[in-house]
Amino acid sequence: WPKDVGILALEVYFPAQYVDQTDLEKYNNVAAGKYTVGLGQNQMGFCSVQEDINSLCLTVVQQLMERTQIPWDSVGRLEVGTETIIDKSKAVKTVLMELFQDSGNTDIEGIDTTNACYGGTASLFNAANWMESSSWDGRYAMVVCGDIAVYANGSARPTGGAGAVAMLVGPEAPLALERGLRGTHMENVYDFYKPDLASEYPVVDGKLSIECYFRALDRCYSFYRQKIQKQWKQAGIDRPFNLEDFQFLIFHTPFCKLVQKSLARLMFNDFLSASSDIQSSHYKGLEAFRGLKLEDTYNNRDVDAAFQKASLDMFNKKTKASLYLSTHNGNMYTSSLYGCLASLLSLYSAQDLAGSRIGAFSYGSGLAASLFSLRASKDASPGSPLEKLVSSVSDLPNRLASRKRVSAEEFTEVMNQREQFCHKVNFSPPGDTNSLFPGTWYLEQVDELYRRKYARRP
Ligand code: CAA
Repeated sequence: WPKDVGILALEVYFPAQYVDQTDLEKYNNVAAGKYTVGLGQNQMGFCSVQEDINSLCLTVVQQLMERTQIPWDSVGRLEVGTETIIDKSKAVKTVLMELFQDSGNTDIEGIDTTNACYGGTASLFNAANWMESSSWDGRYAMVVCGDIAVYANGSARPTGGAGAVAMLVGPEAPLALERGLRGTHMENVYDFYKPDLASEYPVVDGKLSIECYFRALDRCYSFYRQKIQKQWKQAGIDRPFNLEDFQFLIFHTPFCKLVQKSLARLMFNDFLSASSDIQSSHYKGLEAFRGLKLEDTYNNRDVDAAFQKASLDMFNKKTKASLYLSTHNGNMYTSSLYGCLASLLSLYSAQDLAGSRIGAFSYGSGLAASLFSLRASKDASPGSPLEKLVSSVSDLPNRLASRKRVSAEEFTEVMNQREQFCHKVNFSPPGDTNSLFPGTWYLEQVDELYRRKYARRP
C-alpha cells in the first residue's frame, strides 16, 4: 500500500457575485435576523445563466492544474461528485476530458457519482480506494465536486449557494485519510430530492431533513467511535474515544447554524455515553438530561440550547473557522464539506494544524452519510507539503472580498432567468462575461442538439 493517501492540493471556485442576506431578509419581508442569526448566513453566492455545472468544474480543475503545475498526463483517475444534473447520461467528467485530451492523456478512469451532497465524499473514497488497490498505476487521482444550489422561492431559498472544489489525491499527503476510520449510515428517506428533471429546484421537507441529518450524525459518530476504539484496543489503548480526540471538526454545511447545533449534538452523544462519574467541566449542570435517548431528542429545544452553550468554547476552537466560506457563499452541496476544509486551512497556520486529527461529517439527503478523519502531517516547516497546502488557500478571504454585491431584486431576476434557460436549446446565454472572475470558463452556446460549448474568460 502507498503510505498516507490523502489530499495533496486543493482549489476552490465560487461565483463572482453574491446577495447579502440582510437584503434578502428585507426583500422577503421576514424579521431581521432570521437568515443572518437564525440560519447563520451572511451572504449567498449565485451563478448567472452563463455558468453551469460543467463550467464550474472546468474552472476549478484548470485552476488546480495551473496552481500545482503537475503535467496533464500525471493524472490517472478523475472523479466528479455532483447533484446538479444537466444530462441523464453524459457525465461532467467527460466534459473535463476536454482539458486533458490536448495533452494526449485519455487514459483516465472515473466518472460521476451522485447522491445529493454526498457525491464528493464518495468520489474521494473511490479515489483513495483506487490508490490502495491493484488497479493503481502510480499516478495521481483528482476529485472534483461542485453544485449550483438553488431553491424555489420560499423558506429554503436563503440556504442556496454555488461553488466547486478540486482536490489532488496522492500518497504521502499532508492531509491523509485515516485508514479504517469511516462510520457510515445510509437509509431510505424523502427529505430532499430532485424528481422533476425539468427543474433545478429540489423538493424539500426542511424539518425532516434536519432530523435525518442529526440521526445520520449520531449513527456515524457511533460507528466511527466503535472502529477507532477497536484499533486502539489492538494498540493497547483502552479508553473511550470522545470529541477531545478531534483537534478540528468540519461538517457538511447546508447553513451554518446547523453546524453549531451538530457539534452540540456530538457533545450530547459523548455525554450520554460517558459514565455518570466522569467529571467533565463541559457537563456541569447538565445532569437533568442524563436518561434521555438520542432518537427522542431530534426536536428537543432544551437539549439543543443546553449543549450549544456547553460546546461553545469547543465550537470556537475546533469548528468556527471552517464556516468562513459557507457563511459568505452558502451551501455548495457536494463541495460544502471541502469548502469547510479549505476555510480551516486558510484561517489556521500549518503549525496550528500539524499533527491534528480533523473529523469530517459528510451528509447527502436521501440519505448517505459518513464520518471520517484526516490526519495532518507533523512537518509544518517552510516548504513542507502541509505548509504549501495551507499557503495555497490563504487568499480565500481576499478572493471572497473581491466579489460583487448585487441587490435582492437582481438576484431574483437571475433566478427567474435560470428557470427559463436551464434546459433550453439553441441559445447563447445573455450577459456580460466581464462579471465573471478572470480565467473562468463559461457556457458559450447550446446548439439545437443540446450540445454545450464552453469558452474561457481571459
Ligand atoms: N432572529 C433570529 N433568529 C430567528 C429569527 C429572527 N428574527 N426568526 C427565526 N429565527 C430562527 C428560528 O428560531 C430557527 O432557529 P432554531 O431552529 O435555532 O430555533 C431558525 O431561525 C430557522 O427558522 P425556522 O425554524 O422558522 O425555519 P425556516 O422556515 O426558516 O426554514 C430551513 C429553515 C428548514 C432550514 C429551510 O431553510 C430549508 O428547508 N432549507 C433547505 C433544507 C436544508 O438545508 N436542510 C438541512 C439538512 S439537509 C442537508 O444537509 C442536505 C442539503 O445540503 C440540503
